[in-house]
Amino acid sequence: MNKKASGKSISIHFIWPVAALVLLLALRGLLGGSQAEVGGEIYQNYCASCHGEEGKGFGELVPPLAGADFLAQNQDKLPCIILYGIEGPIEVNGITYNQPMAGLGFDELGLARLSHSQIQQLINFIQNSWGNKGAEVSRQQVNDWLKECSKPSF
Ligand code: HEC
Repeated sequence: MNKKASGKSISIHFIWPVAALVLLLALRGLLGGSQAEVGGEIYQNYCASCHGEEGKGFGELVPPLAGADFLAQNQDKLPCIILYGIEGPIEVNGITYNQPMAGLGFDELGLARLSHSQIQQLINFIQNSWGNKGAEVSRQQVNDWLKECSKPSF
């Protein structure tokens, strides 16, 4: 009798931490991970092939995002660049680039690939990675910038 009771209390002790962990993981799944993680994943999927894992760009063909003066000066254009692409020539850190970048916002059927919130998370990841220290951009800010948006040319 005694044995049974103590066995039960042990299993109850085990249940709570496990239940809490399960709940935490479920919540994290629901919220889709932290902003930085989601932004980083989108960067890997859509940008890293050209701009590089470390945001260094590729020679004189693809400009860097890490420490890029152009990016720092054109933060408000970033949502547009992501959606619609950009056509140069542009100067980044003293080097002139002139290869068009296709927009990544829409698939071949014209359907949106990235939501406004994904764009926001991507921007915050880029602005705060590889030594970049941009101001945190809010969802409202991204929405406002996108309202003014058409394919930017420089
Ligand atoms: C197919 C290659 C390619 C991909 C993929 C790509 N870019 Fe670019 N990107 C370029 C090129 C090339 C330029 C230079 C455009 C020019 O010369 O006008 C550029 C320019 C830029 C610029 C402006 C210049 C600078 O360095 O600040 C930003 C910002 C940028 N890209 C962000 C992104 C982001 C964010 C993604 C992912 C959503 C992305 N790019 C995906 C090729 C690419």
